[in-house]
Amino acid sequence: MPTTTVHDLDLPGYDPDGLDRAGRLAVLGAAQAQHWLVRTPLGFGVTRYADAVALLRERRFHSALSLLPQMQGVEGAEIEQRRPSILSMEGDEHTRVRRLVSPAFTPSAAGRLRPFMAEVIGELLDGIEDRHECDFVADVCDPYPIPIICELLGAPRADWQRFSHWATEIFKIFNQNLAEDLPAIEQASGELEEYVTALITERRADPRDDLLSALIAVEEAGDRLSTDELVMLAEAVLMAGTDTTRNQLGCAVALLLSHPEQWQRLVDDPGLAPRTVDETMRYLGAVQGTVRVASEDIEYRDVLFPRGTILFVSLATGNRDPEVFAIPEAVDVGRESSVPNLTFGSGIHYCLGAHLARGELQEALALLATRLPTLELAGEIEWKPENFGIWGPARLPVRW
Ligand code: HEM
Repeated sequence: MPTTTVHDLDLPGYDPDGLDRAGRLAVLGAAQAQHWLVRTPLGFGVTRYADAVALLRERRFHSALSLLPQMQGVEGAEIEQRRPSILSMEGDEHTRVRRLVSPAFTPSAAGRLRPFMAEVIGELLDGIEDRHECDFVADVCDPYPIPIICELLGAPRADWQRFSHWATEIFKIFNQNLAEDLPAIEQASGELEEYVTALITERRADPRDDLLSALIAVEEAGDRLSTDELVMLAEAVLMAGTDTTRNQLGCAVALLLSHPEQWQRLVDDPGLAPRTVDETMRYLGAVQGTVRVASEDIEYRDVLFPRGTILFVSLATGNRDPEVFAIPEAVDVGRESSVPNLTFGSGIHYCLGAHLARGELQEALALLATRLPTLELAGEIEWKPENFGIWGPARLPVRW
């Protein structure tokens, strides 16, 4: 078949503006049945699982996360000139950093933090148990991941609040209101950098059993990670590991309580927590998509993507692909699947913290089902606005 330039294809259109999540999934689902690509106002969208995986593994498609500020109309901002994050590094530079940090993110490394995770979620449940109702987002999801990232990095309990504040501020980068949010983002990022640089100096003098010490040890075994790279990694872990996890926990609990029979299955058998985590991530992922840019002219499936083409890879739609997941519209906490869901991404940028995040979610759901088995919705769930960032419930009223 002759190659057609993507711009010349006859494709279904997709404009997310004004649509809620259900509306977006409905339009994208219909488009998915028609074609593996859709035309969006800012580029092209990838609708099907197999193509999402193939294109995320195609190394000539580069992460376009660093282009998000420009896409939002902010030019020349200081934030664009800062050191590259692992999330936007490519080629040999990315391979090298990823190889150096991977040993700190294995299943066994994540496993060592499990008792701490159980302790943190246990304390949060202690704080609400006697109240018999709460906003699950504010009382449990929001505070949960920060202590774990702090423990991972080696930052003391006294600094949890500061990390929480920095994470919230820096995450405004995804709020599509960058022109206004930029000063707050830059201030938080500067403070975090100062803090982590000081912590690195401390750990150099006095290594401990934490991520920074492990990464410093790597650095000092040869010409390895520079101080700048260590700061970047600490920032990346905080950025990538907090809002994602708290929103994913909110999505999971919202979904389970909206399907009480599935919640009951977990209550009856908390051993289902690992599958429940995977199924809730598939059905209601906190990260709905990611974005790539063609670094050169690329041909795929007889389609030419000229250099500079922007691709939005819809993880949410891939997760509902009927070619891959049987009866994708059904929530089944016991679902067996031979392939992973896409919510952790795929390819070289596949989530570095996936084992850690799975551990956090599994510990939280298993303990929740054991300690608050009568948990139920106590009102309407309010959802965060739909945008390209990380998404989940804004308010999740529950009682037990
Ligand atoms: C449920 C929670 C989480 C979700 C849904 C999630 C999702 C993702 C996704 C989709 C990507 C790939 C982005 C892309 O391809 O453009 C990613 C990358 C990443 N995640 Fe996560 N993540 C979660 C938790 C975490 C945690 C707990 C950590 C840290 C400890 C973490 C650290 C990272 C890092 C460092 C990257 C960049 C990897 C690279 O570019 O090589 N994530 N995550």
